[in-house]
Amino acid sequence: MLSQKTIDIVKSTAPVLEVKGTEITSVFYKNMFASHPELLDIFNHANQKRGRQQTALANTVYAAAKHIDQLEALLPAVKQIAHKHRSLGIKPEHYPIVGEHLLGAIKEVLGDAATDEIIGAWADAYGVIAGVFIDVEEQMYVEAESKEAGFRDFKPFVVAKKVKESDVITSFYLKPQDGEKVPSYNPGQYISVRVTIPGQKNTHIRQYSLSSAYNEEYFRISVKKEAEMDPNGIVSVFLHEEVQEGSVIEVSAPAGDFFLNQENREGKVALISGGVGITPMMSMLETIAEETPERPAAFIHASKNENVQAFRKDIDGLMDKLENGKACYILENPANVSLCHFSGYVNKEILSTYVDSETECYVCGPAPFMKAVIMTLKEIGLPEDKINFEFFGPAMDLSTV
Ligand code: HEM
Repeated sequence: MLSQKTIDIVKSTAPVLEVKGTEITSVFYKNMFASHPELLDIFNHANQKRGRQQTALANTVYAAAKHIDQLEALLPAVKQIAHKHRSLGIKPEHYPIVGEHLLGAIKEVLGDAATDEIIGAWADAYGVIAGVFIDVEEQMYVEAESKEAGFRDFKPFVVAKKVKESDVITSFYLKPQDGEKVPSYNPGQYISVRVTIPGQKNTHIRQYSLSSAYNEEYFRISVKKEAEMDPNGIVSVFLHEEVQEGSVIEVSAPAGDFFLNQENREGKVALISGGVGITPMMSMLETIAEETPERPAAFIHASKNENVQAFRKDIDGLMDKLENGKACYILENPANVSLCHFSGYVNKEILSTYVDSETECYVCGPAPFMKAVIMTLKEIGLPEDKINFEFFGPAMDLSTV
């Protein structure tokens, strides 16, 4: 338990640290990687270069500090991050390393203003926050391990099949190398993939949504090849170009709190995606087609043009299985206008054709797309609890993108 004095100090200094947040976390990462270079095997170097992880970690530590006397209020946010941590293989012993370097960075940036009393209070608060994460993550490890064919950390998977889905998206069918089944997952969840790239000092980890309904034989991910110049593209380019059928990559157990809720099996549902955000939607649509084909479902997908649009045949095939399914393809620059329902960008007119205030909506895609869709859904009158979303990259406040 934290003393009232500690709570008061932490709450009163949180705003100061918030202002200096990005500066503090930049110093923190620089120093932490200098003394623990092995952590570069876990962190996404591209996010580091763009400062995105700095923002994510800073926001969370200060948000947690502001709510230090009512941490239960943060539990949904903690769980989302804990899913990511569990999928990355973060361990309890990593927390003191982060704590030491975070406090060191606060001292370095604030200088004399960071008195021993203030640093002491933050050390106590960090300990409490870290304890919450460690507990939630341990529960998640146990859950992942105790499922049928479940496992705790990463394990090797063989690329059984590689299928081109569009000019930029390729699917990888991944089977456990030990011949086991794959553990069950919820449609919408993701896995982490860890690869060793020749010539690179550190391993690289990326998360990819599972893009098919659960089956016990394989996981399927569908990866967009990013530009070779983009530091974030290093893993996707490696997967597309170097990883072949028969290659072995490491995979961790499915994770994530963005998934299809099948409790209301008759309720209207809309799966709304932009670009490669289509991947979790494929898993959801296949699941609806298999388990609740009577459920009214709209599949709305926006992409640049026909060449980069993936899964069109599969979606049309799944629509035939649904009693009340509607597909809507929006192409920004179609070569043939008759092959899409709308050309241009997603807008209120389009969305209100398929969605009303009762519809459970799932949204995934690049940040500007997500922002436009979420704002429009609110204008249409959807309550927040009907708008489920996930976007790729570190979770940042959508108002900042
Ligand atoms: C991701 C917060 C401890 C490693 C994140 C994210 C947040 C966060 C907000 C972004 C989540 C998302 O992308 O959805 C925190 C807080 C911590 C903590 C508040 C302490 C209380 C740790 C520790 C490690 C770690 C101890 C391991 C040394 C990572 C990694 C990512 C991540 C590798 C993925 C992003 C990337 O690769 O750049 N964390 N974290 N975190 N965290 Fe933590």
